[in-house]
Amino acid sequence: MTDDTPLDGRTALVTGASAGIGAATARALARDGADVVLAARSEERLSELAADVSATYGVEAEAVPTDVTDEDAVAAMVEATVDEFGGLDVLVNNAGLARGGDVAEMSTDAYRTMMDVNCDGMFFATREALPHLVENEGNLVFVGSFAGQYPRPGNPVYAATKWWTRGFAHSVEAAYGDEGLAVTVVNPTEVRSEFGSEVGDPFEERFEPGEASEPAEIADAIAFAARQKPPSTVSELDLYRRDKFAHF
Ligand SMILES: NC(=O)c1ccc[n+]([C@@H]2O[C@H](COP(=O)([O-])OP(=O)(O)OC[C@H]3O[C@@H](n4cnc5c(N)ncnc54)[C@H](OP(=O)(O)O)[C@@H]3O)[C@@H](O)[C@H]2O)c1
Repeated sequence: MTDDTPLDGRTALVTGASAGIGAATARALARDGADVVLAARSEERLSELAADVSATYGVEAEAVPTDVTDEDAVAAMVEATVDEFGGLDVLVNNAGLARGGDVAEMSTDAYRTMMDVNCDGMFFATREALPHLVENEGNLVFVGSFAGQYPRPGNPVYAATKWWTRGFAHSVEAAYGDEGLAVTVVNPTEVRSEFGSEVGDPFEERFEPGEASEPAEIADAIAFAARQKPPSTVSELDLYRRDKFAHF
């Protein structure tokens, strides 16, 4: 390990790694020296990213195509990670999405999709990873949202999934902190990723550069959380646009 690679020897698993914040997080963790396991549904994108990350940062990078709503697939994802790398030190629960919007007009399918990916997916991954993370006094990072801290009239169900995330994360923190687990919730406002494409233009097109956060900024915060060593943690990080409250 050098000062430049503080995560050398650590293994990090990132869900939703095929795009946006997750892909940027895989790069940030690899830059810091971690071997990375990339999970999402898009097999080809994951394989390309794994090859690029490995070549760029000189770490091991594995693509493990996984739908986080499938509990058996999530169990296999964690098992494959532990088999390949001998353990798991960091889980980034990032996979998430929004479906639109207005409660009175929301289909049950849209409701269930958000609950399945944003809540069930984080539960399944956390449940499978916990014994390994505790064993290594590791770091569990959740991608929450500003929408999980303040009411969001435009999409109450999406917001509720992110309130769930924060409630779950901090309760897991309370349950496992004395066993050495570090838990962090990272709350972005708008990020220029593919997010939002199901309810309009993706945010990377809806916002010009400089109008919203970039995925790499959120990834840096996640990597900061993942670098926390016992006995310290960073419980919550709010990464807001400076003008967010002006346009609340
Ligand atoms: N962008 C924002 O403004 C913003 C703000 C606050 C919080 N967030 C949160 O940040 C996280 C990442 O979003 P993003 O902005 O990076 O969006 P994104 O660019 O749309 O990326 C979403 C990622 O989630 C994956 N995913 C979706 N459904 C999945 C499933 N069933 N199983 C496995 N992976 C799945 C996608 O991959 P596949 O399609 O390949 O499966 C993709 O890699 C989400 O939790 C989101 O709620 C975003």
